[in-house]
Amino acid sequence: MNGIFYFSGTDNSLWLAKQIRAELGGEIRYIPQWNGDISAYDRLIIVCPVYSFGLPVPVFDFMKEVRTDAPLWIVLNYGGAAGSAAKFAYNHAKDCGLNIKRVYTMKMPENFTAVFSTPLIKPYNKGLLKKAPVAIGKIISSIKNGEEKAFPSDKPGKHKLYNENKSNWGKMGERFSVSSACTLCGKCVKNCPAENIEIKDGKITFGNKCIVCQACYHRCPNQAVMYQNKPNKMPYFNPGVPENEMGTDIL
Ligand SMILES: Cc1cc2nc3c(=O)[nH]c(=O)nc-3n(C[C@H](O)[C@H](O)[C@H](O)COP(=O)(O)O)c2cc1C
Repeated sequence: MNGIFYFSGTDNSLWLAKQIRAELGGEIRYIPQWNGDISAYDRLIIVCPVYSFGLPVPVFDFMKEVRTDAPLWIVLNYGGAAGSAAKFAYNHAKDCGLNIKRVYTMKMPENFTAVFSTPLIKPYNKGLLKKAPVAIGKIISSIKNGEEKAFPSDKPGKHKLYNENKSNWGKMGERFSVSSACTLCGKCVKNCPAENIEIKDGKITFGNKCIVCQACYHRCPNQAVMYQNKPNKMPYFNPGVPENEMGTDIL
């Protein structure tokens, strides 16, 4: 059976995982909650966003911890430029002793809008989402055919930016706050994969375990979550995923 493991802040990766499952079958598993038996799967597919030309922390750690000989394909999606993310993921999988076959990258709407602005975001995203079924369809066919593609090893000292950013992501949580539009609905608390948000003394508080997924920022129904005291003017989450599926397994 295929084990389709995903991590996602704004559901692009879950949408892709669902397309893969619809064609190839298997179980969709949410990486931050995974504590099952990996031997149940004879083929692994990891689906996640590119973070700083590298991998989100839960995916990076999952690959270090999981022990299996099952062949692995990785599907990365990115908002602007994937850089060397595919090579990074391939070599990380190798370093972790995983049976990596191939890493794919495809473009999806940018969700790091707290930091990077995308011009004409609505029409631009609409265009990307329209092209996405064809792009993921090609990747699915390639996985189905068992295609492989190797990358050369990385030179020591490569991915400096990723390593620097990764070590700072925890602190980034402290730059989030909520405006007076917050109704204490608790959605940000529930959606945070790092359990970094809580309601303390009747107020939303952010800790230092943030993994910068942007789920709180984009999913707030009142656009009350702010980054560096600025409200979110461009909330985004993948429109093809029902809200109650976010952060869940689909079996
Ligand atoms: C912390 C962070 C870092 C990111 N780094 C990159 C990057 O290096 N290159 C890029 O093109 N997109 C980057 N993105 C954008 C996401 O990879 C992209 O929007 C992805 O589709 C989001 O997937 P999701 O909805 O499954 O979370 C970054 C997003 C976040 C939150």
